[in-house]
This record gives sequence, C-alpha cells and structure tokens, in this order.
Amino acid sequence: SDSQAIPQTSTGTDESVMGHFDHGLTLALSKGRILKETLPLLKNAGIELLEDPDKSRKLIFPTTHPLVRILILRASDVPAYVENGAADVGVAGKDVLMEYGAQNVYELIDLKIANCRLMTAGRVDAEGHWQKPTGRLKIATKYVNLTRQYYASRGEQVDVIKLYGSMELAPLVGLGDLIVDVVDTGNTLRANGLAPFDVIAQISSRLIVNKASYKRKQAVLSPILAGIEAAIG
Ligand code: ADP
Ligand code: PRP
Ligand code: MG
Repeated sequence: SDSQAIPQTSTGTDESVMGHFDHGLTLALSKGRILKETLPLLKNAGIELLEDPDKSRKLIFPTTHPLVRILILRASDVPAYVENGAADVGVAGKDVLMEYGAQNVYELIDLKIANCRLMTAGRVDAEGHWQKPTGRLKIATKYVNLTRQYYASRGEQVDVIKLYGSMELAPLVGLGDLIVDVVDTGNTLRANGLAPFDVIAQISSRLIVNKASYKRKQAVLSPILAGIEAAIG
C-alpha cells in the first residue's frame, strides 16, 4: 500500500514516539489507578504527559522531560517489557510482580499506591457461613501461580481454574468453590454475596527497573528516582 498517503502527526520529537530511544528512559505504566496515582509522583520528578492517554489511541507518549517517554500497557504486561529491556522502568502491583516472577529487574521503590490485599473469598449463606466441599477445592483466579504456591505451602491439593477477570462471578454460577483476587473496600465481594476469608499478601505498587538500564542509565535515572521518592505519601 501507499504509506505516503497516511498523515503523520506527533506532539513529541519523532525519536521519543517511535523507534530507538536508547539515550533516554522508557517508562511502562498501565491505564487506570496506576497511571492516575503515579502521575503526581512523576510530576515531582519533572515528568508530565504532553497528552491525555484517555483521549488518545496512541500507546507511546512523550513527556515534558526530553529524555523520558511513557508506554501505556496492560497492567499484567509491565513486567515483561521491563524484564526484556523494552522499557527501562515500570510500575506494577506487587500481585502482578509475584505472579509473573520477574527476573532481571530490581524492585526499587514501594510507591504505596493502589493498596489492596490479595485474598481468598467465597460464597456464604445468610448466616455468613461457607460450605467447604468434600472433595478437592476448586479455585478460580487470574493468579494461578500465586494460588498454587499458597495452597502448596499449606500442604493442600487444589484445582486451579484460570480466569482473566470478574472472578467474583465464578462461584455464583458454580465455577469453583473459592476465588483468589485483590480486595480493597470489599464492596465487589459484598455486592455479589461473597465474603473475604484469608489474606495471602498485602499489595501495593512498586517501581521496577531493568538491571542493565539501572547501571547504564544512572545519570538520567537517579534524579528521577529521587524526585519520585520525595513525593511518596
Ligand atoms: P487490571 O486491568 O489488571 O485489573 P488495574 O488497574 O485494575 O488493572 O489494577 C492494577 C493494580 O492495582 C493491580 O495489579 C493491583 O495491584 C491494584 N488494584 C487492583 N484493584 C484494586 C482496587 N480495587 N483497589 C486498590 N488497588 C487495586
Ligand atoms: C478490582 C478487583 C476487584 C475489586 C476489588 O477490580 O479485581 O474486583 O477491584 O475492590 P473493592 O474491594 O474495593 O470492591 P477493578 O475495579 O480493577 O475492575 P477490573 O479489573 O475488572 O476492571
Ligand atoms: Mg482491575
């Protein structure tokens, strides 16, 4: 096809929105609560988006910092980008980091944002009681690795059913006896007749850095890390 017919528009330098950005720093974030809660921290490090990602279909965003660009990814994809050096820095929930088991990255800062708990939960009767099944427990979750590890550490054999979201639905329609999901206010569980049981882990979002980037890009990185750390609540 005739590529010249496609109009090119860009708000940043061409380099920052396409191709190599080897001299600069690439940050991987996810839309939603992590983006919303990370932006004020980045602002304290001199980094602001030039465009609103909610109003754009673009996935690479230049910033007010000439050496920093931001990638917008799925939350669960952030470790893969940073581990492989496609992004130098990322922000991801501890749940996602534990589930992925990222190698090759340093977990440098607890940002203390997107706080929640990874929990087991299940359907309860009017008295608030949960009926433990006689056979093997079936657990529906997107955290299959964490769930296997958790029950293995308790010496319990379970069947794990992999889901990609809306875990609270599963026990209501007989898909699994329990779920493993993150809980904050508990509103979603309550709205679906479920109750929280055991806390598997306290969760907050962490800043991770690719190990090679950490050595090679110290000069750009260290003032940014200092600015972020100074802004943590
Ligand atoms: P996803 O599309 O993967 O669900 P979210 O933006 O909802 O992405 O969640 C990103 C991270 O925020 C999660 O990995 C978790 O650490 C945390 N989180 C998820 N749900 C909540 C919540 N209800 N309250 C606080 N933190 C949450
Ligand atoms: C998260 C999580 C729970 C809910 C817990 O869903 O998967 O469903 O929040 O929060 P609560 O205890 O305060 O109700 P989220 O809002 O991220 O929706 P989504 O991931 O399905 O888009
Ligand atoms: Mg979510």
